[in-house]
Amino acid sequence: MVAVTINGLTTQAGDGISLFECADGIGIRVPTSCRKQGKCKECIVEVTEGIESLLARTEHERHLKGNFRLSCQARVGGTDAFVCQTREGAVRCHTMRRANLRIERRAFGLPLGRSASLEPSVTRDGDRILIDGEEIARASGPIHGIAMDLGTTTIVLRLFDLENGEQIADTSLENPQRFGGSDVMARIAYDGEHRGLLMRTLAGYLTRAIEELPVDPKSIYEMVVVGNSTMRDLFFGQSVYTIGQNPYRSITEIEMAEGRRTTTSLTSTGRRCLLPIHPEARVYGAPVISGHVGADAAACMLAVDIAHEDRLIAVMDIGTNTELILGNRHRILAASCPAGPAFEGGTIACGMPALDGAVEDVALASDGTFHLGVIGGTAAQGICGSGLVDLMSELLRTGRMNSMGRFEDDGQRITVDAARDIFFLEGDVNELAQAKGANVAGLQVVCSQYGIDFEEIEVFYLAGGFGRHLKVEASRRIGLIPNLPDSRIEQVGNAAIEGACVTLLSRSRRRELEELVTRVEHCRLETHPSFFDYFVEGCQFKAVESANRVAG
Ligand code: FES
Repeated sequence: MVAVTINGLTTQAGDGISLFECADGIGIRVPTSCRKQGKCKECIVEVTEGIESLLARTEHERHLKGNFRLSCQARVGGTDAFVCQTREGAVRCHTMRRANLRIERRAFGLPLGRSASLEPSVTRDGDRILIDGEEIARASGPIHGIAMDLGTTTIVLRLFDLENGEQIADTSLENPQRFGGSDVMARIAYDGEHRGLLMRTLAGYLTRAIEELPVDPKSIYEMVVVGNSTMRDLFFGQSVYTIGQNPYRSITEIEMAEGRRTTTSLTSTGRRCLLPIHPEARVYGAPVISGHVGADAAACMLAVDIAHEDRLIAVMDIGTNTELILGNRHRILAASCPAGPAFEGGTIACGMPALDGAVEDVALASDGTFHLGVIGGTAAQGICGSGLVDLMSELLRTGRMNSMGRFEDDGQRITVDAARDIFFLEGDVNELAQAKGANVAGLQVVCSQYGIDFEEIEVFYLAGGFGRHLKVEASRRIGLIPNLPDSRIEQVGNAAIEGACVTLLSRSRRRELEELVTRVEHCRLETHPSFFDYFVEGCQFKAVESANRVAG
């Protein structure tokens, strides 16, 4: 028998038993719509330990790489001689995670005044349901809409009653496309090899998430989608090949440059997007800015109301792709940094998204004991981004890690929670250093192109679910954010989903968004001559000063 642990629950399994059957036995619901036939590709699990105790991949798993398996196909019965003889193998894996990420029901520190007016595209005239005045259905019940932030790593949905503007529910999930790679370039390459598979897999997971919302899916008549250029276009079934090739332009951007369309926004229907919402519902993909600077950055701009801002503001939305925006109503610069998934828990040995069970607070006592705060108050399963920032800050503060990210006295591994076998490796620090280096280098380039020092930024919006829960002092200490006073830093939560909600609820703000993206200067980080120098400097764990000022 082999011990199989799925999502933290353990069972014993004999040869030939599939991970799906193990999950069933311990009450874990694995997504499926093909009844374990290997066809729907939805039952993905990520195996984090003991993959050698499983039989080899089947035909149905040819599309999967690395440690991803289809749970209905992956069966216990390793071929490794040692494991077979001793039966000491243990398999640890998890399904793509669903949970309520810590979604904020209100925006923090955002200029809200202009967001409040309710003016949705979907309206009712008796039993006629209209979109922009055109009838699409007849129904007497309520009318609903969804705003979605489609991130490379995590996805957030909010459900609204479009007649009163009230948020009814929210939900979130890990992006199931992770099996196609953790960053956008890997997904682009994957989509080239397995065209359409990422879209269909995502649609399957979104279908399940929407069906679990507390309303009839057919009463959802509009959905607004924001995301980086690759995520948005994969969702709409567009080719993303050109986004992966220099000069990194989406199909919509190319067509607009050639005069074949007037906007980079996309419009489709519920039916064409393979979603269970009303088949004629409009699915609106907000416009992208340029290159990898996508609709999520555009939505952030709407959320912070940069079009009416006199102060010089910066927005840093830290994610697998970090979005950077700098400017005010006179001039706006935007960039996208390929920071990778480290701050969302990806590529970190004990990393995980900010879900229940994730360590989010870390304090290191003088006796060397770690005091941990865990989301949901449950037993720790891993460490999320804000926990990782805290952990590194504490290690730096107490001298257990130096500014180069080397552990001073513990070799290459630090035990954070012995009972739960949660640890932190020097290799993890390297991953985080590179993610941090990319973010800082991006900020340096944007400021340099704008011709300002960090000190001139009047409001620094730290956006994103991760940004909302960071400790500012810890973030400054490790050099994740610039060395600005607290009074200028606003942690605003997921500004992209806020912008998506505004776009769903207000036609005039949507028009404003369409106009705003045309005024943004795209700052291409990859071609800036100093990017690499800034990156190397930014990988160090120390306070970040403006390169312009230091140079001057
Ligand atoms: S359940 Fe459909 S592929 Fe495994």
